[in-house]
Amino acid sequence: MLQFENVEKIMKKKRIIKNVSVQINKGESIGIVGPNGAGKSTFLKILASVLKPDSGTVFYNGVPYSKNVQDLRKQIGYIPQEIALFEELTVKDQIHFWKKAAKNMGSPTYILEMLHALGLHHVYHQKVKALSGGWKRKLNVCAGMLHNPDIILLDEPTAGVDLAAKDDLLTWLKSLHKSGKTIILISHEWDVINYLSDSIFVLQNGEILFEGPSEQLDQFEKDQLDLEENQELIKILRQRKR
Ligand SMILES: Nc1ncnc2c1ncn2[C@@H]1O[C@H](COP(=O)(O)OP(=O)(O)OP(=O)(O)O)[C@@H](O)[C@H]1O
Ligand SMILES: [Mg+2]
Repeated sequence: MLQFENVEKIMKKKRIIKNVSVQINKGESIGIVGPNGAGKSTFLKILASVLKPDSGTVFYNGVPYSKNVQDLRKQIGYIPQEIALFEELTVKDQIHFWKKAAKNMGSPTYILEMLHALGLHHVYHQKVKALSGGWKRKLNVCAGMLHNPDIILLDEPTAGVDLAAKDDLLTWLKSLHKSGKTIILISHEWDVINYLSDSIFVLQNGEILFEGPSEQLDQFEKDQLDLEENQELIKILRQRKR
C-alpha cells in the first residue's frame, strides 16, 4: 500500500535517508526504532508527504505521491514529534479551529469517541497553555487524527507523558489498529513498540537495517551487528528485554 523505492533525502549536503526501499501493507502496525539522529523523523515526514525525497519515489497504492497527494492526505494522519498547538485557545476552540480549517472531518461520533478515549473531555474548556505536557501530547495526537485517517503516522506520541496518559494513548491506538487501521510509530520506549507493533524497522544512519517481527531481532543482532561499530544500536536493542 505504501512503498519507498530507492528513496534518498539530502539536507545540508548530508545524506539523511540513504537509498531506502521498503513496503508497508494495509493494516500493518510498524514500530520504528533507532538511535537519535538516525533519520526516523525524516523517514516519517517523507511518508507523510511533509518532505519530498531528493531522489527515488514513494507510492501510495501503486501511484507516486506526486500524482496522488490530495487523496493521500485524506487517508493519512501525521502526528509530529514537536507539539504544534495554539496556546491561547481552549481545547474546545482549538478543535473547532481545526474543524473549520480541515477539508474533511471524521463523524461527530468518531470525534467524541476519540475525545473520551483520550480523556480530553475533562479539560475541554481549559486553555492549552494551562495544560501539562501529557495533555498537550494527547491533544497533539487528536489534532492529527480528526479526519479519521486510515493510515496513522506517529512520531514519539508518548514522549514525556505520565503513565495514565500513556495508557489512554496506547489503548486508543490499539483499538484503531484492531479495527484495521495502519499504524506506523516511532518510539524510544520498548513497551510501546511491543504493545502496538507487529513488525519493527530498525534505522541507523539513514538506512533500514532490519524489518520484521521482534522475535527475529536476536538473530539480526548476532548475524549483522558488529560489537564495535554498532555499540549504540546494540544497547538500544538489548533494552527491550529489561
Ligand atoms: N532541516 C534539517 N536541516 C539539516 N539537517 C537536518 C534537518 N532535519 C534533520 N536533520 C538532520 O538529519 C538527521 C536525522 O534527523 P531526524 O530528525 O530524522 O532523526 P531522528 O532519528 O528522528 O532522531 P531523534 O531520535 O533524535 O528524534 C540528524 O543528523 C539531523 O541533524
Ligand atoms: Mg525524531
